[in-house]
Amino acid sequence: MSQITISTQTTSYPVHISENENFEIIHNAKVLVVSNPRVAGLHLSKLLANISAKEVYVCTIPDGEQYKTMQSVEYILECAFSNKLDRSSLFVAFGGGVIGDIVGFASGIYQRGVGFIQVPTTLLAQVDSSVGGKTGVNNGFGKNLIGLFHQPQAVYASTSFLSTLPKREFAAGVSEIIKMAVCFDKEFFRFLESNRVEENLAYCIAKSIEIKARVVNQDEREQGIRAALNYGHTFGHVIENLTGYRNYLHGECVSIGMVMANTLAYKLSYISKEEMQKISKLLESYNLPTYHKIADCHIFYEKFFSDKKSRDSNLTFVLPEHLGAVKISNDIPKELVLEVLEEFSK
Ligand SMILES: NC(=O)c1ccc[n+]([C@@H]2O[C@H](COP(=O)([O-])OP(=O)(O)OC[C@H]3O[C@@H](n4cnc5c(N)ncnc54)[C@H](O)[C@@H]3O)[C@@H](O)[C@H]2O)c1
Ligand SMILES: [Zn+2]
Repeated sequence: MSQITISTQTTSYPVHISENENFEIIHNAKVLVVSNPRVAGLHLSKLLANISAKEVYVCTIPDGEQYKTMQSVEYILECAFSNKLDRSSLFVAFGGGVIGDIVGFASGIYQRGVGFIQVPTTLLAQVDSSVGGKTGVNNGFGKNLIGLFHQPQAVYASTSFLSTLPKREFAAGVSEIIKMAVCFDKEFFRFLESNRVEENLAYCIAKSIEIKARVVNQDEREQGIRAALNYGHTFGHVIENLTGYRNYLHGECVSIGMVMANTLAYKLSYISKEEMQKISKLLESYNLPTYHKIADCHIFYEKFFSDKKSRDSNLTFVLPEHLGAVKISNDIPKELVLEVLEEFSK
């Protein structure tokens, strides 16, 4: 068991990383556990055995990114109201990043905000989404466009939950681990080149959370360096949006998005061909996709603007600078971006 502390300007909380699921959530009021049928079917009894509270309620929402919506939030709020949860109550998010993001948001607005705990059950949620307090849902205009910053009170990342995770979902989590290494930690990137994540799970999770903690501790509200965690996401969110969240997993879109960002970084001489190839090779070693055929580059380009990070006319791109560092640029000429998109339309 290891513990990392996240400290923002307003709060501080522990992230517990362990290889078994023996942790304890003690709460002297009502608790609402929110999960989906798949995760609940596999692991709910183990979670419930770890909770001591006045009363524990469970509600499930359907599984999938397409349910990361306001309707699911409303459903959770109704569960909370009908069971008379009050401001001292606690929400527990039990699932992957989708559950974590929705429950974090629902708890942030229920009676102007109640506490919540993250118990992430996917690799992606353990290394990335459960930490840092970004919560929210999607709508027809794009991803995560509705939401708020609401930090959990604690995070329990137990690698044993990952034993039932399909290979493809596992790889999607590795994509975010590779993202952290490329942007912030050259040594960790080297480690990943010669070691498998599945054989070094607790270490890789702790390393990724440590990196994310450093970033979030400096910049909770994403006014500067935290934007670097969006490496691969500017392109990736457009792919997710254009494919209706159906063809690819989030981490897969991030994988393709990183390769697109690398292509742009290479054109700007921020990284060498060899560095670019190293990143692609590492992604491919987990069977992550590194190419998506763009049907119409202009439509793709326009879609950048429905991403909230590109609200104004300046698009923000996170570009690797060699390995272990990044540049956040908002003055990349449109022509250059279109050149990159053209390379993915062949
Ligand atoms: N808030 C943040 O900072 C942040 C960061 C990165 C990603 N995200 C969000 O996270 C979401 C993606 O998260 P995800 O990849 O965890 O997807 P997900 O939550 O959809 O989970 C993937 C699938 O795995 C299933 N699953 C979960 N745990 C399982 C287990 N232990 N065994 C078997 N199956 C299991 C889920 O039911 C689902 O079908 C996206 O919506 C993305 O926007 C948020
Ligand atoms: Zn992501």
